[in-house]
Order: sequence, then C-alpha cells, then structure tokens
Amino acid sequence: MSNVITICGSLRARSYNAALARTLPKLAPTGMHITESPRIDTIPHYNHDIQESRGFPAEVTAFADAIRHADGVIIVSPEYNWTIPGTLKNAIDWVSRMKEQPFKEKPVLLQSASIALLGGSRMQYHLRQCLTSVDAFVFGRPEVLVTFAPQKFDEKTLELKDQPTLDIIRQQLEGFAKFIARVSGK
Ligand SMILES: Cc1cc2nc3c(=O)[nH]c(=O)nc-3n(C[C@H](O)[C@H](O)[C@H](O)COP(=O)(O)O)c2cc1C
Repeated sequence: MSNVITICGSLRARSYNAALARTLPKLAPTGMHITESPRIDTIPHYNHDIQESRGFPAEVTAFADAIRHADGVIIVSPEYNWTIPGTLKNAIDWVSRMKEQPFKEKPVLLQSASIALLGGSRMQYHLRQCLTSVDAFVFGRPEVLVTFAPQKFDEKTLELKDQPTLDIIRQQLEGFAKFIARVSGK
C-alpha cells in the first residue's frame, strides 16, 4: 500500500489542474491511495527574516509533514508565463530551507493541464530542474501533459472525458507505483 499526495499549482475554483488531480484516485492502480496535500495558498511569501525570527509558519510545517509522510507526491500544475506558478514555487522554496528537507529522495510525479498547445511542458521542465535541487527523485516517462484542456474536460462538470488522456494517466500511475516500490525497496 502506498500513500500518495497531490499538490495543485492552481488556486482557482474551476481549475483544470485541480480537476485533473481529482481524477487521479479513480485511475490509480490497486494499492495506491491518493489524497490532497494541505493547501498552499495560505503560505506567506518566503522571507528569511520570518524564518529566523519566528521559525517556519504553521502552514509550511503542515505542508512539509504531509510530504514527509507520503510515499510519493504528484504535482499537478498549470504553466504561468512559461514557468512554475509563484504560489507553488513559494511553497517549495519554504520547505527547501528545512533541516529535515521533505523532498529529499521523495518520488515525485509531474502532470500539467493547459489551454494551449504545449500543455505546460515548459513548466514541467523547470519543475524538474527545481526539484533536482532539493534531491527529489522525479519520475521520467510517460509524461502527462493535457493540451487544449477545454476540449478534454466536460464544460459543466469539469470531468476529464478524453479517453487517450485517461489511458496515459493510468499507465503513468502504474509506472509511478513501480518507481515508488523501487525507491523504497519494498
Ligand atoms: C498568469 C498566467 C499565465 C499563463 N501563462 C501560460 C503559459 O505560459 N503557458 C500556457 O500554456 N498557458 C498559460 N496560461 C493559461 C493557462 O493554461 C490557463 O489559464 C489554465 O486554465 C490554467 O490552469 P487552471 O485551469 O488549472 O487554473 C496562463 C494563465 C495565467 C493566468
């Protein structure tokens, strides 16, 4: 049994990425339990002075603990101006300063959804680079990049309805389950 958490890089209520993250539990292979991470939108902007004078904010500690206790992490995020959304990067920056750094040797899987042609690919490659700096073990392939999102999610319910996308996600989650098992030696 592996416990996996999702971290969403979009805060908006009708987010395609949040909808994608909500789809994952039902596509997960047997033995993989997927839940949402604590919220990251209430984490203050990183400021070393706060860290030094008051310690890590409670929201950061809760986020870090959730990562530490998970066997794997799935980051599902949009691309903003060709890179990582600030809220998500800010959360990673905060936990990267912790002594018991939660991303260290943590299996991490990336997914993105975008309204455009490249599906958030540039954000994913920047995230790979950033996560390498915190010693995360980032899963390789297959990649999940949901392009032209409005065509793939139901307009009203936001349910992911595109069969090839559902198939590749299932395949990716199966690969991630094996990756987690290999990393943890279970
Ligand atoms: C500030 C901002 C910057 C954006 N930059 C990009 C971009 O670089 N590449 C891209 O594919 N889409 C970009 N978009 C469009 C997003 O793909 C679109 O808003 C998408 O719905 C965001 O994901 P969400 O639905 O999960 O919130 C941008 C949107 C915003 C608000």
